[in-house]
Amino acid sequence: MNAAVPFFAAERTWAEHGERYAQLMAEALAGGQALQGPAVRAFEAALAARCGRAHAVAVGSGTDALAFALLAAGVGPGDEVLVPAISFIATASCVLRVGAVPVFVDVDPWLRLDLDAARALVTPATRALLAVDLYGQTVDHVAFERFADEHGLTLVEDAAQALGATHAGAIGALSCCSFDPTKTIAAPGSGGAVLCDDDALAAALRRLRWHGRDDAGRFATLGHNSQLPTAAAAVLHAKLASDARWTERRRAIAAAYDAALAGTPHRPVGVAPGRDHVFHKYVLRTPDRTALAAALAAAGVPTRVHYDRPLYREPVFGHRGRACPAAETACREVLSLPIHAYLTDAEVELVTTTLAAAS
Ligand SMILES: Cc1ncc(COP(=O)(O)O)c(C=O)c1O
Repeated sequence: MNAAVPFFAAERTWAEHGERYAQLMAEALAGGQALQGPAVRAFEAALAARCGRAHAVAVGSGTDALAFALLAAGVGPGDEVLVPAISFIATASCVLRVGAVPVFVDVDPWLRLDLDAARALVTPATRALLAVDLYGQTVDHVAFERFADEHGLTLVEDAAQALGATHAGAIGALSCCSFDPTKTIAAPGSGGAVLCDDDALAAALRRLRWHGRDDAGRFATLGHNSQLPTAAAAVLHAKLASDARWTERRRAIAAAYDAALAGTPHRPVGVAPGRDHVFHKYVLRTPDRTALAAALAAAGVPTRVHYDRPLYREPVFGHRGRACPAAETACREVLSLPIHAYLTDAEVELVTTTLAAAS
């Protein structure tokens, strides 16, 4: 059956705001600088202010943001980086990219890196801790910062899924954002940014994004070419002003899904006490994922799985990791429902009634 409910509905955002976004892009491009135009600097300033950081350095993707954050922090061959066993591939592949070794850590009940499990994995080679705000819920910034301080680690936040949540973008030495088309603040294309407070780190990030060129115009270090297009920056800047409304809508949809799950064998991954969640993804846990996904599909509700196996099971990592029992169980049980600010009330109701009936 064709999906009656779209899993993503980015085209609806464009239908409402597209004319204004197109105008902003045209104005940005009329300046003649398709890359590194003034709109990029204006967006960087707005993003830094929004997250309470001294610097935001816009780059070509969230994937590059993560690799550049590690490189700027001096992570490289011989180093180990603690990463959660459940996340998008880029969270751990960035560690391989800089020549270091990802050390996979089991997850807590909210599927975020479990600091108790991490403690046993710290070695003299451990250089950094990568904290992922999975599904849009921030990690406990106080506990993570304390852990990093205690062990002398650089704390890097992967805030790709959480921009808009309290503290997102402000945790640790460096925070990485993604503006890919599915994200809470989505670019017309790819995009990312690294946020930090340290001037030297910011300067290193600016060198990394364009061939290693320094302020004197010399290419003293190896860099890359990873830039946020000026037109995309103009749209992102405008979206920074409207995302609170979208976040509230996603939270209301999440609350409706939570209510529909009450009394069923399925349960939301949920929100840890005292934390904030922007529901980039709405993820539940179910004892029978195949049956629930089939029932939802039959009603026209598409689902996805984030993520169907722990990261260390991806062949690229060469099976370096030991098994993480909580992550293994979670990856068998998780199921993601459609969530987007432009889902209609009727679509949300179709999801909730199907969930309740499928129990
Ligand atoms: C947790 C996480 N980290 C990193 C990334 C990479 O971001 P990008 O797609 O912009 O490269 C993503 C994007 O899907 C993500 O979800």
